[in-house]
Amino acid sequence: MTNETTYLENLLNNRKVVRSYQKASFDKNSLEDIAKYAIKIPTAGFSRGIEILNTFDTKKIETVSQIFNEDSFKKDNQSPWISNSLGLFFLLLNEEEYHKRYSSSDKKNAVNSKEWDIPYWYVDAGAALMNCLLLIEEQGFATGFMGLHSIDRKKIHDLFKIPHDYQIVGMVTAGVENNNVVNSKKQNIKKKLTHNEFFSK
Ligand SMILES: Cc1cc2nc3c(=O)[nH]c(=O)nc-3n(C[C@H](O)[C@H](O)[C@H](O)COP(=O)(O)O)c2cc1C
Repeated sequence: MTNETTYLENLLNNRKVVRSYQKASFDKNSLEDIAKYAIKIPTAGFSRGIEILNTFDTKKIETVSQIFNEDSFKKDNQSPWISNSLGLFFLLLNEEEYHKRYSSSDKKNAVNSKEWDIPYWYVDAGAALMNCLLLIEEQGFATGFMGLHSIDRKKIHDLFKIPHDYQIVGMVTAGVENNNVVNSKKQNIKKKLTHNEFFSK
């Protein structure tokens, strides 16, 4: 072991959510395999209830930006975020897979998935999210994440033919950062979030 920062440490150190992209062209090959590798996640009980849907279709991306009411949150002088994305990745949850898996005979002593204190499907979705962000950054693009809390989810389901019993956990964006935008400084930069041996304030 050396004291040098590793490739992954570097990627993690520099990762940030970027919400303003410039118009850009790109080699589709660079983003085509993101979902294939991002889905390589551990899932509770190997339930495999997380899926990823991606799009690189400019027309669909434009429609998504309208569904998200991009104009309403675009800040002055910023170039758009969603509509300038080169690719979008939707994290999909098929919760039923977890319940199916946890009703199998080898899981009869496990806590019923409908009574979990922690809904592990969101833990698994978070792992896929992180993989997506890092894989996109590794290809040299900027990334962002957006929840669907303030939009009409049904429209996204319809646009991509996503079954209505799936839940869309969120959307990852990939694009080229607009470097003319001054990003606001991160808050709480000194907040203690890791603990060694004992919890300490
Ligand atoms: C579960 C989750 C939900 C988020 N939802 C949104 C969102 O709806 N809109 C948005 O602009 N950013 C969203 N973000 C991005 C966070 O605001 C962002 O990660 C945070 O500001 C930290 O910035 P950093 O990722 O650059 O370190 C979300 C992030 C996570 C992990």
